[in-house]
Amino acid sequence: MDLITRGNNVIMETYKRFPLIFEKGQGCTLTDSDGKEYLDFVAGIAVDALGHCHPGLMDAMKTQIEKLVHISNLYWSEPGIELAEILTEESGLDKVFFCNSGAEACEAALKLCRVYGKLKKNSDAVEIIAMEQSFHGRTYGAISATGQKKYQANLEPLLPEIHHVPFNDIDALKARISPKTCGIILEPIQGEGGIYPADLSYLQEVRKICDDENIVLIFDEVQTGIGRSGKLFAYQQYGVIPDVVTMAKGLGGGVPIGGIIAKNHVAEVFTPGTHASTFGGNPFVCATAKYVLETLTAPGFFNSVEKNGAYLKSKLEALKKDHPSIIEVRGMGLIIGVEVSTQPGTIVAKAMDKGLLLIGAGHNAVRFVPPLIVSKEEIDQAVQIFSECL
Ligand SMILES: Cc1ncc(COP(=O)(O)O)c(C=O)c1O
Repeated sequence: MDLITRGNNVIMETYKRFPLIFEKGQGCTLTDSDGKEYLDFVAGIAVDALGHCHPGLMDAMKTQIEKLVHISNLYWSEPGIELAEILTEESGLDKVFFCNSGAEACEAALKLCRVYGKLKKNSDAVEIIAMEQSFHGRTYGAISATGQKKYQANLEPLLPEIHHVPFNDIDALKARISPKTCGIILEPIQGEGGIYPADLSYLQEVRKICDDENIVLIFDEVQTGIGRSGKLFAYQQYGVIPDVVTMAKGLGGGVPIGGIIAKNHVAEVFTPGTHASTFGGNPFVCATAKYVLETLTAPGFFNSVEKNGAYLKSKLEALKKDHPSIIEVRGMGLIIGVEVSTQPGTIVAKAMDKGLLLIGAGHNAVRFVPPLIVSKEEIDQAVQIFSECL
């Protein structure tokens, strides 16, 4: 029996998978079971920040794996502390909670703002405002905060007291705020929704409202964080600092790790027993993530992400001239969406045939989220293939 049939027999069909089996990867290249090579502009859905089999990352993983992998959070170990030190220093926030995925990071943030509301506002302050077209993950709290009905089908009843408002619409947000509001959650650049960046003035006003009304401002940077925007967090591109930021995806360079970083006045409402995770922040994932962060924060790295991102964006913009099916090119750094008037899925399939991996975003965009180490030559190659597929 072939491998895909065996997979279909035993793995739940929660994904519509392409009939491709990958065996190995190096840098921005993946090799399938027939030996065909693909330029990887999906990066495990914005995860493989340093590409595949980065030598330094492999060494960091091997070194830690031979020392200590998991001990639980009943005890201390150095890698998690070192990683949290880097994250707090680089983010301007104060305290970290580690978990294992983006959805779990959002769960932690939602719980944190609910506890904050009860303890620091009033016992009725339980309402959370989230954005239409947002995506926050598949666990119950995260899916309840997600502003896309298609992900919520047959899951009702969802978590109560979460209200959705249109993104980038300050009046709609103001109209929804009440003394019961404890938190606002938004993505500075909506990823799964179709790569829609927030307006600067919008984020500034949201920040002001949260300060005035004692509301916890949560930025979900699971997709935009860890260097993808050209800064460690996209909010640093805007100069608007949240009370809580979520992270996952790029943080572990491929190993599962998520987390939140919060300001002290919010973080302090979590006490022993309020929240926890058995695996969260174990020595193995933290040593791996520490290597990722040290690489990303080394002088020049973010500059090169910004430069390559601008180069990719300008090359995609330039395609508009010959390809009227391109409606808009959106995003910053190495998270770019190309809105097309045709089917994004058809373009993704054609590109795959030609050896380029891309992914859709929302219902009308093709997303480019390559490893952050992508080269100019690889960008040239990807844009050439993409243009042939339009
Ligand atoms: C903004 C955002 N939040 C949360 C998630 C959920 O992350 P995970 O799939 O790791 O649970 C995603 C995943 O795409 C995301 O883009």
